[in-house]
Amino acid sequence: MEQLKIGLNAARIQAHIEALASLTLPEQPYTRRSFTPLYRQGRELVAQWMQEAGLKVSMDQAANLIGQRPGSAEGLHPIVIGSHTDTVPGGGRFDGIIGVVAAIEIAQCLHEQGITLRYPLAVMDYLAEEPSEFGISTIGSRAMAGALSPEHLRLTDPTGRTLAEGIREMGGAPERIDEARREPGAFALSLELHIEQGPVLEEAQLPIGIVTGLVGIHRAQITLEGEANHAGTTPMRLRHDALAGAAEIILALEALCRATNGQAVGTVGKVENAPNASNVIAGRTDLVAEWRSVDPVLLAHLARRFEAQVREVAARRGLQLSYSPLSDTEPVQVPPAVQHLLTQTCAALGLSTLALPSGAGHDTNHIATLAPAGMIFIPSRGGRSHCPEEWSEMDAIVQGATVIGQALLAFDQNQQP
Ligand code: GLV
Ligand code: MN
Ligand code: MN
Repeated sequence: MEQLKIGLNAARIQAHIEALASLTLPEQPYTRRSFTPLYRQGRELVAQWMQEAGLKVSMDQAANLIGQRPGSAEGLHPIVIGSHTDTVPGGGRFDGIIGVVAAIEIAQCLHEQGITLRYPLAVMDYLAEEPSEFGISTIGSRAMAGALSPEHLRLTDPTGRTLAEGIREMGGAPERIDEARREPGAFALSLELHIEQGPVLEEAQLPIGIVTGLVGIHRAQITLEGEANHAGTTPMRLRHDALAGAAEIILALEALCRATNGQAVGTVGKVENAPNASNVIAGRTDLVAEWRSVDPVLLAHLARRFEAQVREVAARRGLQLSYSPLSDTEPVQVPPAVQHLLTQTCAALGLSTLALPSGAGHDTNHIATLAPAGMIFIPSRGGRSHCPEEWSEMDAIVQGATVIGQALLAFDQNQQP
């Protein structure tokens, strides 16, 4: 059968990316944090674009924004494409956003070009992919995969709002969150376009990365309570310095991950210290630690070793400790058939590819428990991401979107993988 060609509108893709970029905290570009009015505003735009693309727009109980298009064949599960539109603080214009904008553009072209797929299509803007103020990430896709627990819903943000309340404010129905859950096999295929967020493709001068697997991420919330006291009059031997304990813990995680010879990475990127004054010994320090690997055994091993070291530091320094695992997302292998579909699609478009793992977490981590799920990456300038300098060229974005569009047409026509 002659392969249909999807002709995407580059100007519309650019306009949509720029429209979302303009919805930022003015003092901290490009910030559109989940569970904020700005995020809601962005999603209202996304819903409008979905509608213009002929999609039937709805929101599930987990506040995932979904645009649906029926297929012509009976009884087939949908193909899902999409990503997220929230950002990290000071984050970028492309991370997640291009995946949603590309998915809508594909739907719009199918609509305008009168192409009917055999499979139903669902365009996803998953709720809150980045670590939220509630401490957890990938909230919408996690709920779809049945991995959002009642304990998660009780987590609070710094204002004391619970995650359940946050989901309700975003348009979800947390008391019926189980209804957002999908069964394994609920989707025929899931494809996500994303920026690489690293330097590999740019260095290799290759336009498309075929993701082979995605790291798993474990996160823990650690609170150390010591004794606030005078920084000048308290002898060193009598101190219970929460921040000094935190410093040891940060270095312990770094050492553990360095010792894996590149098999794992670990970060403490969030620290809050009280009272945070130059002449007061810290009375309380809160940290969020995370470690990542594609190897599930290593992740679990690091979890045990790290927690033991945290407990040892707290006990030795006379600090009261609260150690709570926040989330543990497992690593994902992209099925070879999905990698093959994407690689063949690129070859047919004359695009060279590089197979590479994803060091970033994605909604695909969760969706992979429900469907054969794959991702492609496009280059990130200078390998920069999660910062205002994050940049990908418009040509590269359109190429990536075209690969997703053609792959879904090929899947629809040939039913592989
Ligand atoms: C998502 O951006 C992550 O990898 O933290
Ligand atoms: Mn991100
Ligand atoms: Mn992302």
